[in-house]
This record gives sequence, structure tokens and C-alpha cells, in this order.
Amino acid sequence: MESLQFSPKEGITRMSQPYLYRRPLSFLVTLWIAAVPLASHGQATNGKSGSPAGGQEPTKHAWMNRSLSPNQRADLLIQQMTLDEKITLVHGAEGPQMHLHSLGGAGYVPGIPRLGIPALQMTDGRSGVAMYESRGRYATALPCALANAASWDLESAYDYGALLGKEVRDLGFNVSLGGTANLIREPRNGRNFECLGEDPLLIGKMLGWELKGTQAQQVIGNINRYAVNDQETGRTVGSAVIDKRAMEETDLLAFEIAIQESEVGTVMCAYNRVNSVYACENPYLLTEQLKKAWKYKGWVMTDWGAAHSSVPSALAGLDQEMPTGKYFGEALKRAVKNGEVPTARLNEMVHRILRTEFALGVFDKPPVPRPVDPFTGAEVAQHIAEQGVVLLKNTNAQLPLQASGIKSIAVIGSHADVGVLSGAGSDQVDAAGGNAVPQSRSAVWHRSSPLQAIHAKVPAARVMYDQGTDPAAAAKLAAASEVAIVFVNQHTSEGRDVANLSLPDNQDRLVSQVAGGNPHCIVVLETGGPVTMPWVDQVSAILEAWYPGIRGGEAIANILFGDVNPSGKLPVTFPKSEADLPHPTIPGMLLESSGAGGGTPVRTNTRIAPFDINYTEGMEVGYKWFDAEGKEPLFPFGFGLSYSTYSYSELKAAPGKELKVSFRVTNTGTRAGAEVAQVYVSLPPKAGEPFKRLVAWKRIHLAPGETKAVTLTIESQYLSIFNASKGEWELVPGEYKVYVGGSSRSTPLTETALIPGVT
Ligand code: BGC
Repeated sequence: MESLQFSPKEGITRMSQPYLYRRPLSFLVTLWIAAVPLASHGQATNGKSGSPAGGQEPTKHAWMNRSLSPNQRADLLIQQMTLDEKITLVHGAEGPQMHLHSLGGAGYVPGIPRLGIPALQMTDGRSGVAMYESRGRYATALPCALANAASWDLESAYDYGALLGKEVRDLGFNVSLGGTANLIREPRNGRNFECLGEDPLLIGKMLGWELKGTQAQQVIGNINRYAVNDQETGRTVGSAVIDKRAMEETDLLAFEIAIQESEVGTVMCAYNRVNSVYACENPYLLTEQLKKAWKYKGWVMTDWGAAHSSVPSALAGLDQEMPTGKYFGEALKRAVKNGEVPTARLNEMVHRILRTEFALGVFDKPPVPRPVDPFTGAEVAQHIAEQGVVLLKNTNAQLPLQASGIKSIAVIGSHADVGVLSGAGSDQVDAAGGNAVPQSRSAVWHRSSPLQAIHAKVPAARVMYDQGTDPAAAAKLAAASEVAIVFVNQHTSEGRDVANLSLPDNQDRLVSQVAGGNPHCIVVLETGGPVTMPWVDQVSAILEAWYPGIRGGEAIANILFGDVNPSGKLPVTFPKSEADLPHPTIPGMLLESSGAGGGTPVRTNTRIAPFDINYTEGMEVGYKWFDAEGKEPLFPFGFGLSYSTYSYSELKAAPGKELKVSFRVTNTGTRAGAEVAQVYVSLPPKAGEPFKRLVAWKRIHLAPGETKAVTLTIESQYLSIFNASKGEWELVPGEYKVYVGGSSRSTPLTETALIPGVT
């Protein structure tokens, strides 16, 4: 066992060979975890939280026979349970029991000692175990989920999830909350940094691999805020109004793909209503689609406080209320006793919970708290940050900076002297050592200083910092330096949307003035989603670094100086202005400003009256909207530059029931790099979709001058439309146009494929 543990040295050594490293990391994590519980089992059975509840020796129970299937084990166990015990499992606990046994995560469901059923210890955070500082414990702050999505790298996604899962376990939890498949429909949504973009296939695949990585650590994963929970404004009262076909082909498809890919153990239903029915008591979402059409085997829990009823929710398909038992405690028990909720339905809830626990090792391999390994965490975080940085502009090959020739650099703004920004809310990972900007009231800055990382690249140069609060002073420093690097940010948070896409705090003026003072002006963005850039033509280079995590400063410096060749691609369209969006303002925002919320705009205020969020754009989300409307984005979906260049050739599209697309990609530059080759398809006109859709992609590593052949098979569902009246996907026969290239707006290869009707 000893030799399988991580050591800082091992982690660092393997990171120097990143592509060899990734599989072994996940593999080793799994092996190591598998090795631990045998030694710890006795301790765990008597332990407090995070372990099977004390009492009877669990191995004596028939359901502890590991040769039985999870279904058989759950069946055996349910037969022994009383009504009260079943009710205990279907809601969270508060009060004295919670205080005694909970590890202090977001949620706690007590175990049942008599039967050896472990407590469920749930913790928040997709970009790391959230808010654990109060318990004196460390967790790695990974880059935000959107940054990971920008890598378009399934292996990075797996590693992201695996690292999170490992730390969730190390901290004693057995349920990892978070991992949203909601689309970025609303670029001003405060939670976009938790999302994985605007395309259902990209989101579904990337999140699916993340969740696979998490669950491989024997913790239960979660896909959250199901569904169409695309803004924070009025999130508990708003109703997403959207037609079924549009919903299936966009928001629900992302969930479906991620769930199929990962077999995730839990789905969290959202606060909002969908077509007037609360998501947590919505039979179409919970039963017709999730459980029946997609054959989902896990359980559905509410978002925190998102239950609104006992009987309608239970009958609609909700399995667990969190974090309390307001509706699924005594009230549900009464409903079962008086027959309003059949016992079979309660049994199904409990069966889903127990089956998942058996399937994912929660009974057999309970977590044993141990110190988190900060070194491995930091290495993984840095690698993922580097993969996700998107180079948006690079005039006259401004980047990479040539370390040997530079004598002076001005680093300006965004607290780049001390740290990098993170997104807030339930995904907030505490800053190791405390907030790097202690005076900041809501934003947490991780202690990874871009200034220091830049200085380390050019130790002999004069590297000066200006905080950027006085644009004139910053411009003066820039003018006196060879190169100016301006860091700008937009802080976003769960619980509030941003009013617009402009950089706050006068930062647009800062960039303009600095660019006026120095023609070699490089902008580094730390944002949770798209922002507008009125200064785009004035600067020579732009990097989108998102919220880059605990090693963000080092990752940014590695890209700036070319130690890493950028390969990230935008998972979301950057518009030129809000006027180009389907909704020029956020639905409900004006209600909030004038309503009982006391004039505070864009909050999750529950006191305003229910209102509709009309998704009139339907299927036309993100790039599909820009395509269909003939609008020019600032930077399109799928776009990202490299320090190398790539060319595409020899597209062939072989039709059939599945479409086979093959082509070649060549690195025409002088540096090794990775290109994300994207395949889009537009459907025959009778499908009624005036835009193309992403149907596949491949991330390809290429040495200078190297050519690789790529063949991708497109699943027929990704070519199909949803027939809402039949409730089925169908392939429309006809001519499909195939587009291949390096972004949604750069597709040098096109081909037409005729797909015959089903005979
Ligand atoms: C958030 C969830 C989170 C839960 C528990 C809710 O407000 O929407 O993402 O898991 O709180 O903290």
C-alpha cells in the first residue's frame, strides 16, 4: 500500500510528462483507495460520522455479501427496514443529531446503526471541497469548471473529477455535490463559472468524464440543478418557459449525456419551475425523462430548500429532500400511512439510495479521513489551468514573451501582485492561508501571485506592479516599460447575476489608457464567463484565464512565456454587446429592482412574485443564436489561438445510420501543440434548425510539421431532432452538411452527406 500513495515528488515528476501522467493518476487514486478500507473497517464501524453507524458488525448482515449485485443487496436490506427507518433516509437531518455526527458539510443524512447503514456526509464544491477552512482542513482550489471545459480535454476532465473525489474522501465525505449540466443560456448568470459552456455535447461529455473521475474514488457524485436553471435572478420563483423540443435538444440533452457517460449516483433538482411546475415536483423531468426515458438508476435529491410538497413531489419522482425533512419527514410518513403515497413508491426512493450506495462502495469502502495532499492537488490544478487558458488575440506574435530579451515589464491591476480570483457561493473553496486580498468583502483571491510567477521567468528584468486603481498612473508605468500586462476581472457568485457584461470598477478605462501608453499591451482576463471588450482593437494580446485556481499565477506565466503552448478553446460565445443576446436584460431583473427586494438588482430574492423566464430563443443557444440571427460575435464558440498554426485537409463524410467523418490535421507552425478539431453539422432544411450544431471533436497533439488522420463516428442522437409529440428522437432523412475546423466560425472543410430515411 505504501508504494501506491502519492508523494509530492511523484506528483511533480509525473507532471513533467503530462500525457503519461494522467491515466496513472486516476488509476493510482483508485487503487490506493481500494486498498485502504480493509485496514480501516473496524475503526469505521465504531466511528462517528463518515463511517457506517456504530452497532452491529456490518459484515454479519446478508446485504454485506459483496458477491451479490447492488440491486440484490438493496432488496435484502429494505426488507428489514421499518417505516421510520425508511423515512430517515429520504431527508436530511438538522438539529442535535446533525451537530453531533455531521462533518459540517452542506448536508447530512443519519445512518441506521442497527442495520449498518452509513450516514451520508455531503459536501459542496465542484472546483474543490468547499468551505472547509472553518474545520481547519485544506482542500485544493481547482480552476473553475468553465476553465476545465475550455480544455475540451476528456482526460483533464477525468483528472479534475478524480482529484476532487479523492479530496472529498480524504476529508471523510461520501457524497460530492455539484457538477452542473445547465447550459450558459444567460451570459450574465452568476453561476456560469460552475457551468461547462453553452453546448450540450461539450457539457455532457466533459461533465460525464469529470463525474466518472469523481465516482472512481468511491464517493457518490452529483449532477445538479436539474433543469433549465440558467439564471440566479429570482431563482426560487422564476418559471423557465420553454417548448419541449427545445428543452430536449439543449438543456436536457446535456444532462442526459453526462448521466449516461458517468452513471452518476445523484441528481439534484433545481429551485426554479420549468413550464410552471417546480423542478423538484415535475413529473416530466423527474419520471418521464430522467427515470424512464434515460433509465437513470440513482436518486433525485432536492436543491437546498427546493422541496415544495410531500405528495406531489413524491409522486413526481423526488427521492430525497435536503437539507431537512419539512416535507419528506413526518408529512411523508403520514402520506404513506394514509395511502396518498404508495409504500412501493417510498420503497423505490429507499432502494435507489441504497443501491447507489452499494454500487459506489459507500458500504464496503467507507472513507477514512486523512490529510489532503496539497502538492499533487496543486500540480493537477496547474495543469488543468494551463489547458483551459484561451488565447483570444495575438497580434504580430506579441506572445509568447521572449524571456531572454525583456528588460522591463509593467504588471497592472486585479491584485495580480498577490493572487488570482475565484467564484463565490456553494462552489467557493477557501483560500489556503486566508484570502490573499483580506480587505475584499465578497471575493476570495487564492494565493498564487501572477506578479511573482512572471518575475520568476525574467529574474534580471525590472518587473513593476501598479494596482490599476488610477488609470493615469498605470499608463505612466506602462509607458516606461517594454511590455504592459494588464490583469482585469469580473467577480461572479451564486445568488446574484451580473447586471451587464462590462468589466466592473472602471477596468475598461484602465485597459484603454494602458494600451494608449504602450503598444505591447497584453490583457489577462479572470472572469466567470463572457465579458465585453470595448478596447479589443487597442491591445496586442488577450488571454482568458477564467478563475484559474491555486496555481493560476504560475499557469498564466507559463502561457505568457511559451513554456506551455495555449490550446484552450472557448466553451461559450463572447458577444460584442448585450444588445446581441436573445434577451438584452435578464428576465425578472427589473421586478427585483423595484420589488420587495429593496431595490437590490439581480438577486435570488424569494420575496418577489413568481414570473416567467421566456426562453423565446428555444434551441438557439449561444453560437446557434449568433448563427441563426446572422450576428457577428466578439469571439465565437470553439475559438482559441495557439503559438502554432494548424491546417485541415481531406474531409470525407461517410453517411449511413451513423455518420463517419474523417479528415487530416497538420501542425504548420514551429512549435508542438494541441489543436481541438471540431465537427459541426447542419441538418436538412425540413428539420427547421437554421444553425449548425457541434457533433464531435478531437483534441490532437501535433509536433511541428506533423499530420494526423482523425476519424470520428457521430452518434445518431447527435444528428437527430426531438419529436415532442411522439416523445422520441428521430433522424430526419436528407442532406447533412458537415463542417470541420478549429472553431464554430472557422471551418475550412465542408462536405455533404446524404442520410437515408429509416426503412
Ligand atoms: C446550491 C447548491 C448547493 C446547495 C448546498 C444551494 O444553494 O444551489 O448547488 O449544493 O446549496 O449548499
